[in-house]
Amino acid sequence: MALEKLVKPHILEIRPYQPGKPVETLERELGIEGAIKIASNENPHGPSPRALAAMRERLGEMHRYPDGAAFALRAELARRFAVDPAQLVFGCGADEILELLAKSFLGPGDEVVYAWPSFAMYPVVVKGMGATAVPVPLDADLVHDLPAIAKAVGPQTKMVVLCNPNNPTGTSFGRAAFEDFLGGLPDDLVLVVDEVYIEFARRDDFPDTLSLLAKRPGTISVRSFSKLYGLAGLRIGYGICDLELAGILDRARHPFNVSRLAEIAAVAALDDFEHVERTLEHNREGAEYLERELEALGIEVWPTDTNFMLIRVGDSGAAAYEALLREGVIVRPLPGTGLDQHVRVTIGTAEENERLVKALRRLREGELLERAR
Ligand SMILES: Cc1ncc(COP(=O)(O)O)c(C=O)c1O
Repeated sequence: MALEKLVKPHILEIRPYQPGKPVETLERELGIEGAIKIASNENPHGPSPRALAAMRERLGEMHRYPDGAAFALRAELARRFAVDPAQLVFGCGADEILELLAKSFLGPGDEVVYAWPSFAMYPVVVKGMGATAVPVPLDADLVHDLPAIAKAVGPQTKMVVLCNPNNPTGTSFGRAAFEDFLGGLPDDLVLVVDEVYIEFARRDDFPDTLSLLAKRPGTISVRSFSKLYGLAGLRIGYGICDLELAGILDRARHPFNVSRLAEIAAVAALDDFEHVERTLEHNREGAEYLERELEALGIEVWPTDTNFMLIRVGDSGAAAYEALLREGVIVRPLPGTGLDQHVRVTIGTAEENERLVKALRRLREGELLERAR
């Protein structure tokens, strides 16, 4: 059947998302063992042990549908963020929150403005609805160029998406820049602030998006349990917004979009302060270690407010990616972003970080030998 005649043309325009290569795939391809994956900004220390225990204890409930309202998790997050429980929307990962926003607000003729390079799913969800993506280049420091984003907003703009801290650069913008930006932003568009890495941000002046919700209806902060809490495989994320926006997104979602197990794990993970502290501390130490060691190798490292780093590896990020694969180290190349000389690396365990440094050192030495010949 000639499906191309039936499919919506904008679906064919989507460039499929390329996830990080799984360890098992690389090991199978190369016939090796002991490969490491530092490509998808997962928590290298594993899931919260409290979440694991809670899930084990309640596996016997899995013949039941989930609580579609996620009552327990909703109540706990509402308490923590001091918001009305009805201001929360849950999804199958933060990804689904983006999807629900697109489904609710976007169609052909609508424009969505976002910084670029940024999270690779933005163009996918925007184009998936037949809407028009308006990417705005990051500034010279690879930070969101908020004045340029403001200028790109026009009469067709339905949504602006800001990723703070930004993936894949690890950079962030501060409160003053955000406030200036908000001052000139029209009211009649949806402002999405993707904050899935917020817990890792270290700058003192990190913007407080939640304080904006009452002042600027139509704003949403998007969060995830995939990063800090180590629950990427369970798929659970959420949005915090005003009541009207939450009501709209709730209409668009499937009733059981978050699994029973995911809700149980998320509630337990929120209370696992030891796991959270350990993750943040190791992330800080890992970032310092990588910064020091990679700079000593002459590799430029971008300052990070996340659990990953953007590094400039030389002439070709794609070639470095391939060479690192042969060393059993999976990082993330960044095709189609303009960051051709870079790769993105997740800050791993101490052993994984050392493994990366050793592999990059070998590549550097190999290059020097090659040049000397
Ligand atoms: C900026 C950004 N937003 C959203 C997501 C999706 O998160 P989740 O795993 O909760 O779907 C990611 C995942 O890497 C991300 O980097």
